[in-house]
Amino acid sequence: SLQVIQGVEAMRSAVREIQRGGETVGFVPTMGALHEGHLSLVDAAAAECDRVVASIFVNPTQFGPNEDFTKYPRPLERDLELLRGRGCELAFVPEAAEMYPWGYGTSIDVGPVAVPWEGAARPGHFAGVATVVLKLFECVPADRAYFGRKDYQQTLVVRRMVVDLNLPITVCVCPIVRDPDGLALSSRNVYLGADERQRALSLSQSLRLAEELVSSGQRSALVVRERMLAHLNAAGGVNVEYVAILRDGSVDEVAEIGGPVTVAVAARVGTTRLIDNLRIG
Ligand code: PAJ
Repeated sequence: SLQVIQGVEAMRSAVREIQRGGETVGFVPTMGALHEGHLSLVDAAAAECDRVVASIFVNPTQFGPNEDFTKYPRPLERDLELLRGRGCELAFVPEAAEMYPWGYGTSIDVGPVAVPWEGAARPGHFAGVATVVLKLFECVPADRAYFGRKDYQQTLVVRRMVVDLNLPITVCVCPIVRDPDGLALSSRNVYLGADERQRALSLSQSLRLAEELVSSGQRSALVVRERMLAHLNAAGGVNVEYVAILRDGSVDEVAEIGGPVTVAVAARVGTTRLIDNLRIG
């Protein structure tokens, strides 16, 4: 059964109690509107830890003023049912007023890893993410925390923070879950109309194209990037924000594809902003 906890202190003591009993706790932070991507993190946590805690909190501070905070989907009862079905035993569902007490002013700046790409496209986003993740780690002092590679730069930001602040938690990163047609699962996919969803397939297709080019010997990031952009632009109605070919594990662009890279893409399809990435090599 699933215990739903709202209070910060109640949550902390529930986790401490489990750990006093000698059991390990795995933590899956989410903003809800759960799909198989989120649930794959719950599965990984359940496989590696004795108990699983998931949090559902649509964090206001990581949304920009013109982003979708108010319309972000919040199907709470459905989410709790999905968590139950995957053996998650505790759900932390805090109230905004307790997470952000009146007059709060603290913000976590993890430095250069948060600056380019998503950081540049979404000013303040990673400060909001890092701050809320640190707060969630304080509320849910788990042994291990699970994040999806779907948000590649976010995993780098969280890892940087955990190392820099000596946080006593192990960060685990899990693979991207996709629909059979390749579209990376996202809570924002519900915004896509049928036609937009078809055009959105060009993101994962462009990543597969990059993979094919590299595996057939292409080493020039410039060439791969141009081919990807051509594919994305041919889809129509896809407004590319960036295509980046990064040294894997970093936010640094490479010119020559020698070792492992992560190819990352961000684009707007209609008004919906989508991101995707693929590790190559
Ligand atoms: P949210 O977008 O709800 O995602 C929660 C976790 O699920 C993140 O670690 C994300 O990378 C992972 N995830 C999303 N789609 C996925 C997919 N298709 N495959 C695998 N994993 C996927 O990321 C956030 O929430 C927030 O920034 C949060 C970390 C909770 C802080 O507010």
